[in-house]
Amino acid sequence: MKKNPLTGAPVVVALVLFVVVTVAFMAVFALGSQTANGVETLSVAELKDRADALLVDADPERGAALVVTYACTSCHREGAANGIAPAFEGIAARSAERDLQLSAAAYIYQSIAQPGAFLVEGYVNAMPQNYGTRMTDQEMGDVIAYLLQPDAR
Ligand code: HEC
Repeated sequence: MKKNPLTGAPVVVALVLFVVVTVAFMAVFALGSQTANGVETLSVAELKDRADALLVDADPERGAALVVTYACTSCHREGAANGIAPAFEGIAARSAERDLQLSAAAYIYQSIAQPGAFLVEGYVNAMPQNYGTRMTDQEMGDVIAYLLQPDAR
């Protein structure tokens, strides 16, 4: 019997469907690596690059005002530990040791943009999750520059 050239068609259709479904799955997984607020989960190298870029034109004095504007200091209170958030005193030195893969600047950037990525022992993930999108790059850089000052509080 002569082979009908159409018997191959279902196989081709199945293959095409398989590829389409696989690509769709990969797309969904790629989107899944974004956090709920739309900020991507960044690798160690990306965090460092972002932090370095943000610091290029940063001004720590503006940052000092911004931590008040953005109500950071309502949780991060100076002096007595209020139990809500760690005080900013000593943050620069501490940041260099929180995650040995991350520079102090990269750690501070991650702490603000993706607060849940690393939780300071004894505290819960109470920090607003949307600073990464609410703050401009300039503001983010200014705040990081301020927190890198040994006298930040
Ligand atoms: C609603 C309270 C709250 C507000 C507002 C808040 N934070 Fe936090 N923050 C926390 C808590 C709780 C932690 C500790 C848990 C964690 O690691 O996320 C924290 C951790 C941090 C850390 C890491 C501290 C360390 O010792 O390692 C940094 C840096 C930080 N916040 C910066 C900021 C900045 C900058 C702002 C304002 C733009 C801000 N936070 C606003 C509650 C807050």
